Amino acid sequence: MKVLTVCLGNICRSPAAQGILEHFAQQKGLDISVDSAGTAAYHIGKLPDARSIRALKSAGIDISHQRARQVTLSDFDRFDWVVAMDAENLVNLQRIKPAQCHAKVVMFGRYRDAVDFGEVGDPYYGGDQGFEDMRNQLMMISNDFLDHLYD
Ligand code: 4NP
Repeated sequence: MKVLTVCLGNICRSPAAQGILEHFAQQKGLDISVDSAGTAAYHIGKLPDARSIRALKSAGIDISHQRARQVTLSDFDRFDWVVAMDAENLVNLQRIKPAQCHAKVVMFGRYRDAVDFGEVGDPYYGGDQGFEDMRNQLMMISNDFLDHLYD
Protein backbone atom coordinates (compact mmCIF):
# COMPACT_ATOMS: atom_id res chain seq x y z
CA MET A 1 0.00 0.00 0.00
CA LYS A 2 1.42 3.39 -0.98
CA VAL A 3 0.11 6.63 0.52
CA LEU A 4 1.04 10.23 -0.33
CA THR A 5 0.11 12.90 2.23
CA VAL A 6 -0.34 16.38 0.76
CA CYS A 7 -0.58 19.92 2.15
CA LEU A 8 0.32 23.34 0.76
CA GLY A 9 3.99 23.79 1.62
CA ASN A 10 5.05 20.22 2.59
CA ILE A 11 6.81 21.57 5.68
CA CYS A 12 4.15 21.46 8.45
CA ARG A 13 1.18 19.08 8.08
CA SER A 14 2.04 16.50 5.43
CA PRO A 15 5.53 15.67 6.78
CA ALA A 16 3.92 15.20 10.20
CA ALA A 17 1.23 12.95 8.68
CA GLN A 18 3.93 10.92 6.91
CA GLY A 19 5.93 10.48 10.11
CA ILE A 20 2.86 9.42 12.10
CA LEU A 21 1.64 6.93 9.47
CA GLU A 22 5.13 5.40 9.23
CA HIS A 23 5.41 5.20 13.02
CA PHE A 24 2.01 3.55 13.50
CA ALA A 25 2.60 1.18 10.56
CA GLN A 26 5.86 0.06 12.12
CA GLN A 27 4.18 -0.47 15.50
CA LYS A 28 1.39 -2.48 13.89
CA GLY A 29 3.72 -4.40 11.54
CA LEU A 30 1.99 -3.10 8.38
CA ASP A 31 3.61 -3.09 4.96
CA ILE A 32 2.95 0.47 3.87
CA SER A 33 5.09 3.01 2.07
CA VAL A 34 4.43 6.70 2.77
CA ASP A 35 5.70 9.91 1.20
CA SER A 36 4.55 13.53 1.37
CA ALA A 37 4.41 16.51 -0.99
CA GLY A 38 3.08 20.05 -1.29
CA THR A 39 0.76 21.57 -3.88
CA ALA A 40 2.97 24.71 -3.83
CA ALA A 41 6.63 25.05 -4.76
CA TYR A 42 7.71 27.62 -2.11
CA HIS A 43 9.64 25.28 0.14
CA ILE A 44 11.13 22.63 -2.19
CA GLY A 45 14.23 21.03 -0.63
CA LYS A 46 13.59 22.41 2.88
CA LEU A 47 13.42 20.51 6.15
CA PRO A 48 10.08 20.33 7.93
CA ASP A 49 9.23 23.44 9.98
CA ALA A 50 11.08 23.38 13.33
CA ARG A 51 7.74 23.52 15.17
CA SER A 52 6.53 20.35 13.37
CA ILE A 53 9.81 18.59 14.11
CA ARG A 54 9.42 19.52 17.82
CA ALA A 55 5.76 18.51 18.09
CA LEU A 56 6.51 15.11 16.55
CA LYS A 57 9.70 14.61 18.54
CA SER A 58 7.73 14.94 21.76
CA ALA A 59 5.66 11.95 20.57
CA GLY A 60 8.84 9.95 19.83
CA ILE A 61 8.72 10.47 16.04
CA ASP A 62 11.67 11.88 14.08
CA ILE A 63 10.74 13.67 10.83
CA SER A 64 13.95 15.73 10.50
CA HIS A 65 15.28 13.62 7.59
CA GLN A 66 12.36 14.60 5.35
CA ARG A 67 12.76 17.21 2.58
CA ALA A 68 9.96 19.12 0.89
CA ARG A 69 8.91 18.42 -2.67
CA GLN A 70 6.02 19.39 -4.92
CA VAL A 71 3.30 17.00 -6.12
CA THR A 72 3.96 15.61 -9.63
CA LEU A 73 1.52 14.11 -12.14
CA SER A 74 3.15 10.69 -11.81
CA ASP A 75 2.21 10.66 -8.10
CA PHE A 76 -1.40 9.98 -9.13
CA ASP A 77 -0.36 6.65 -10.61
CA ARG A 78 2.46 5.72 -8.25
CA PHE A 79 0.34 5.95 -5.09
CA ASP A 80 -2.81 4.05 -4.06
CA TRP A 81 -4.02 6.96 -1.92
CA VAL A 82 -3.32 10.69 -2.23
CA VAL A 83 -4.70 12.32 0.93
CA ALA A 84 -5.16 16.10 1.22
CA MET A 85 -5.00 17.94 4.54
CA ASP A 86 -7.70 20.50 3.73
CA ALA A 87 -10.39 21.31 1.18
CA GLU A 88 -8.20 23.80 -0.67
CA ASN A 89 -5.43 21.21 -1.09
CA LEU A 90 -8.05 18.74 -2.36
CA VAL A 91 -9.41 21.20 -4.94
CA ASN A 92 -5.88 21.89 -6.16
CA LEU A 93 -5.14 18.16 -6.46
CA GLN A 94 -8.38 17.54 -8.34
CA ARG A 95 -7.51 20.36 -10.72
CA ILE A 96 -4.18 18.79 -11.76
CA LYS A 97 -5.03 15.10 -11.49
CA PRO A 98 -5.19 13.12 -14.76
CA ALA A 99 -8.77 12.21 -15.77
CA GLN A 100 -7.95 8.52 -15.39
CA CYS A 101 -5.63 7.76 -12.50
CA HIS A 102 -4.90 4.92 -10.12
CA ALA A 103 -4.92 6.81 -6.82
CA LYS A 104 -7.93 7.54 -4.65
CA VAL A 105 -7.71 11.31 -4.10
CA VAL A 106 -9.53 12.30 -0.90
CA MET A 107 -9.37 14.55 2.13
CA PHE A 108 -7.43 12.76 4.87
CA GLY A 109 -9.98 13.58 7.58
CA ARG A 110 -12.83 12.29 5.37
CA TYR A 111 -11.23 9.37 3.56
CA ARG A 112 -14.47 7.40 3.51
CA ASP A 113 -18.17 8.26 3.72
CA ALA A 114 -18.85 7.49 7.38
CA VAL A 115 -15.79 9.33 8.67
CA ASP A 116 -15.32 13.01 9.47
CA PHE A 117 -12.28 14.19 11.39
CA GLY A 118 -12.55 17.54 9.64
CA GLU A 119 -9.87 19.46 7.82
CA VAL A 120 -6.36 19.62 9.23
CA GLY A 121 -5.96 23.39 9.45
CA ASP A 122 -2.78 25.19 8.45
CA PRO A 123 -0.75 25.82 11.65
CA TYR A 124 1.97 27.87 9.90
CA TYR A 125 0.98 31.32 11.17
CA GLY A 126 0.20 30.18 14.74
CA GLY A 127 2.25 29.04 17.72
CA ASP A 128 3.42 25.75 19.23
CA GLN A 129 -0.04 24.85 20.54
CA GLY A 130 -1.39 24.79 16.99
CA PHE A 131 1.30 22.27 16.06
CA GLU A 132 0.45 20.04 19.03
CA ASP A 133 -3.25 20.16 18.10
CA MET A 134 -2.29 19.32 14.51
CA ARG A 135 -0.24 16.34 15.69
CA ASN A 136 -3.08 15.03 17.88
CA GLN A 137 -5.62 15.38 15.08
CA LEU A 138 -3.26 13.64 12.63
CA MET A 139 -2.74 10.80 15.10
CA MET A 140 -6.48 10.18 15.36
CA ILE A 141 -6.96 10.25 11.60
CA SER A 142 -3.89 8.07 10.93
CA ASN A 143 -4.96 5.45 13.45
CA ASP A 144 -8.44 5.19 11.97
CA PHE A 145 -7.15 5.28 8.38
CA LEU A 146 -4.76 2.36 8.98
CA ASP A 147 -7.43 0.37 10.84
CA HIS A 148 -9.69 0.84 7.84
CA LEU A 149 -7.02 -0.18 5.30
CA TYR A 150 -5.88 -3.26 7.17
CA ASP A 151 -9.05 -4.54 8.86
P1 4NP B 1 1.85 23.28 5.35
O1 4NP B 1 1.94 24.73 6.02
O2 4NP B 1 1.00 23.45 4.10
O3 4NP B 1 1.18 22.46 6.38
O4 4NP B 1 3.27 22.85 5.04
C1 4NP B 1 2.36 25.88 5.33
C2 4NP B 1 3.69 26.12 5.12
C3 4NP B 1 4.09 27.27 4.48
C4 4NP B 1 3.15 28.18 4.04
C5 4NP B 1 1.81 27.93 4.25
C6 4NP B 1 1.41 26.78 4.88
N1 4NP B 1 3.56 29.38 3.41
O5 4NP B 1 2.70 30.22 3.10
O6 4NP B 1 4.76 29.57 3.17
